[in-house]
Amino acid sequence: MNTEELLKLKQRALEELQAAGAPAALEELRVKYLGRRGLLAEIMQGVKNADPAERPLLGRVANEFKNELGRRVDQRRRELQQTDVKIAPCDWTLPGRWPRQGTRHPISIVIEEVTAIFAAMGFTVADGPDMETAYYNFDALNTPDDHPARDPQDTFWLADGRLLRTQTSPVQIRVMETQPPPVRIIAPGRVYRRDTTDATHSANFHQVEGLYVDRGVSMADLKNDITCFARRMMGADVKVRFRPHFFPFTEPSVEYDFSCHVCGGRGCRVCKNSGWIEISGAGLVHPQVFAKVNYDYEQYTGYAFGLGVERIAMIKYGIHDIRALYANDLRFLEQIRP
Ligand code: DAH
Repeated sequence: MNTEELLKLKQRALEELQAAGAPAALEELRVKYLGRRGLLAEIMQGVKNADPAERPLLGRVANEFKNELGRRVDQRRRELQQTDVKIAPCDWTLPGRWPRQGTRHPISIVIEEVTAIFAAMGFTVADGPDMETAYYNFDALNTPDDHPARDPQDTFWLADGRLLRTQTSPVQIRVMETQPPPVRIIAPGRVYRRDTTDATHSANFHQVEGLYVDRGVSMADLKNDITCFARRMMGADVKVRFRPHFFPFTEPSVEYDFSCHVCGGRGCRVCKNSGWIEISGAGLVHPQVFAKVNYDYEQYTGYAFGLGVERIAMIKYGIHDIRALYANDLRFLEQIRP
């Protein structure tokens, strides 16, 4: 092969290179020319046997051919890779598909917040069973046999004589039975009542019970601690109101209200235009209750309170219907974040 033929071959190789539209065709071309048994290997062999006068020139041209083609093949390969990306049937600018993330239920959010606030005030968390005995739910809490709360119309009685607890207060008794004073606990949990469901009632709802027993605990401690809690939970401008009331297990007893968070106390649908939302009851532990758990009521006093979890959730998040908390509609639940 002479120089001229070699140059023609090079020209053809470069044209074929331009025509190679896919990585496979390019590889085929590379093997054909540059492979170990390819055309150029053969030509190099031929150069050795060529006329000594032509050999240097032929050698140089063959070398240039080999190097240039090698370079161009690499370059073309990179080009083809880029084109690959451009023509791929995928729009890389589309947002990805996110797996749906769960959120905590508003009831859980409130219980966790209440727990954190009281934990910072030195309270630990106690627990008791949902299926309770009449002793813990009523007797030990100084509730007389003929108290209306025991009525089957109000309480879910179980076939074995037990009941679904109507309040978290029985946890007070269970705790005091197992430890001497001082006691400082909260007990979050489910409670059950035979209420007809409507916008503000549910047959199954949640309370957080609180109990603090020590020497010299007074009504002033109760008012202070509930008010501190209210401010941390609802914001510094919340007002707290205590109204005289009756509970068998406290004396004196109160019901307490928070100023309505939804309207700032001016009056709205949620607070039925009163500006206040009833949260629950509280009071100083009745000496009869201390007697049941063998606490010395001459030495110790204590306060106790209940706290309606749904009430707090409703005013904190502006929920107008308690049923929204149980309907399990994710479009609603996902809007409520801590
Ligand atoms: N257990 C009461 C209820 O469910 C609320 C309550 C009132 C709890 C006074 C207390 C208390 O601890 O001292 O209505």
